Amino acid sequence: MTARGAVTQQVQDRLAFAEDVARRAGVLALRYFRERDVLVVETKGQQDVVSRADREVEDLIRGALAERFPNDGFIGEETGGDGSYASGPVWVVDPIDGTQCFLSGLPTWCVSIGLMVDGGIAAGVIVDPCSEECFVGAVGGGAACNGRPIAPADVADFRSGLTEVGFSFRVPKAPTVSFIDRLIDSGGIYHRSGSGALGLAHVAAGRYVAYIEGHMNSWDSFAGAALVLAAGGWINDLTANDGVTGGAIVMASGRRLAEQFYALAGEAGYDLPEPPPEFAR
Ligand code: IPD
Ligand code: CA
Repeated sequence: MTARGAVTQQVQDRLAFAEDVARRAGVLALRYFRERDVLVVETKGQQDVVSRADREVEDLIRGALAERFPNDGFIGEETGGDGSYASGPVWVVDPIDGTQCFLSGLPTWCVSIGLMVDGGIAAGVIVDPCSEECFVGAVGGGAACNGRPIAPADVADFRSGLTEVGFSFRVPKAPTVSFIDRLIDSGGIYHRSGSGALGLAHVAAGRYVAYIEGHMNSWDSFAGAALVLAAGGWINDLTANDGVTGGAIVMASGRRLAEQFYALAGEAGYDLPEPPPEFAR
């Protein structure tokens, strides 16, 4: 982690604990991954599956956080929320992001623990057990992967690297297809790992130049968003318009690419939020 001067003690204490919990959750998830042949898979929706592994990993995380910080709020993919998200510390948890990859035997899945404070995204931890990587970051305090500081790619165009384009059946396909078309015309390459949380961690680490998805839930995106912000990147405001409970479009990149990225997403037909003030010409 780089300078932590701007990060409150409240956030620092929680982030240190969350890192330990996420690592333990990663060990449990990896055990299930290696024995996934015996997992019973249930379908929650179109291309949306879950197994005992997701539930047990979330139980581990939720139990540990509740024991150490009993007054904090919580929302998780598998066990839901407690309704108190507007003030104080709130944990936003996806026990296994990239569940379809996990169950298909692909290594691109992760444990994702985000922290909000007073309605704003404050910190996040993402553990990628198959790559043995742990991403940690606090907004205003820098971000690191396995202890080494990370930063988004400092590029001004899409030609310089990979852009991850996520998709789910929660939104119409047309903007995604149009964005890929325009990205290729801009000299970019699309990539799809199957874990949006990990995709955002990889933007924070400069491995992707950008990430876009028409809709992500808070548990899939808040920890990754914290890493992007902590590392000095740009991401749209995921908390606006009840984003904690309803989710949001997600666009993340380095700061030099952000305005062009936003414009390309608009041309592709994504339902965009108002441009942030720093984009005003
Ligand atoms: C999904 C993954 C996927 C993204 C979806 C998410 P899950 O989460 O992050 O990459 O495209 O929007 O729902 O179901 O694997 O936890
Ligand atoms: Ca999940």
